[in-house]
Amino acid sequence: MEIGIDKIAFYVPSYYIELSELATVRGIDPAKYTVGLGQNKTAIIEKTQDCVTLAANAAKQILNTQLINEIDLVLFATESSVDESKAGSIFLQSILNLRKNCRYVELKQACYSSAIAINFAKNHIMVNPNSKVLVIASDIAKYGTNSAGEPTQGAGAIAMVISKNPSILVLNDDATFICEDVNDFFRPTHHDVPIVDGKLSTETYIRFFQTTCQAYLNNQKLQFNDFAGICFHMPFTKLGQKALLSLTQEEKLITRYEYSKYYSKEIGNIYTGSLFLSIISLLEQDQSLQPNDLIGFFAYGSGATGEFFTGRLVPGYQNHLKKSYHEALLQTRNKLTIEEYENLYNHQIDPKRYHQNVIHIQSIENNVKYYTK
Ligand code: CAA
Repeated sequence: MEIGIDKIAFYVPSYYIELSELATVRGIDPAKYTVGLGQNKTAIIEKTQDCVTLAANAAKQILNTQLINEIDLVLFATESSVDESKAGSIFLQSILNLRKNCRYVELKQACYSSAIAINFAKNHIMVNPNSKVLVIASDIAKYGTNSAGEPTQGAGAIAMVISKNPSILVLNDDATFICEDVNDFFRPTHHDVPIVDGKLSTETYIRFFQTTCQAYLNNQKLQFNDFAGICFHMPFTKLGQKALLSLTQEEKLITRYEYSKYYSKEIGNIYTGSLFLSIISLLEQDQSLQPNDLIGFFAYGSGATGEFFTGRLVPGYQNHLKKSYHEALLQTRNKLTIEEYENLYNHQIDPKRYHQNVIHIQSIENNVKYYTK
């Protein structure tokens, strides 16, 4: 039975900042952000958005009544949880009118948990072939104003439906993975922003890519030119490129990397959703991919886990993408000045603290937001 991604969409908040403007205000050469890190813009979360509302807005793009009746498992991958106990996915039940005879959980391992979520979804469908699984990856990447990580912030959500006979991508059963107890990036309970060893994090990311990708090639007896493209978790777009170039100079992969980073450089790091944002970007922006092309995926979660897995494109996959919606979403965002962004970030409502009073509503623009009662 072939199982994989049947539907996929992303959602980002309606504000952004220009990183060249941030650099100027911080007294840094803008080229450090735009060339050195490879980022143009950062999505900025509104006061009335959290990981649940981002997720709901992404899921609305791919759900319909028939699918809602078929989904019996909702997996919510996040490191921006609004509750230490209740799964983020349960809030989606009432917002999206999902079934009650359905399982809802939340998964955590930094940015990696979305990759294991699609694996769990696949295993679930193997024993329940008629079931469909809604997988969410939703996060707010915040390092704090004036921090080293500030140019690598971002916010956004991915929603996917995993099913048999998928319309977009068939997932293969050949993952290679590694996990080591590394303190490169972690956020103890009650900390608003993570504690980061930036250099260790980038070194571990590249080392884990080299280890898992090389193991994959050895196991499968394949070479880099067997891939049509490789998509990466992208905390900033320069990092995946450095990892790729550390192992191969294959021209086709270098060209396709440019397509895969198109959305990330306009949005920033969306943690659990980042790898899937690069997949959407490659599929929507590259017009030369062919049916059955083999695509590689590198997932990374600080702490630290790395995984390399693959999939094959389904004929006609282009007809199931949301390209015009995604492009319009990015084009209609509002730019904040750096002062407006700082004011917003320094006076954010923390949904965790207001949890008892939070209600999720559909606003006049029909986006899901939260308000305190
Ligand atoms: N023009 C062009 N390039 C310039 C430049 C200029 N004027 N000035 C500097 N650069 C280049 C540097 O040479 C460097 O490139 P190389 O690494 O290729 O040499 C790049 O810009 C960045 O410069 P620094 O390394 O000096 O930057 P920094 O130390 O201030 O911060 C960072 C970089 C460590 C990534 C920091 O932004 C950070 O801590 N980010 C958060 C952590 C992170 O994203 N880690 C990634 C792996 S962890 C992960 O994947 C999980 C996750 O999602 C968080």
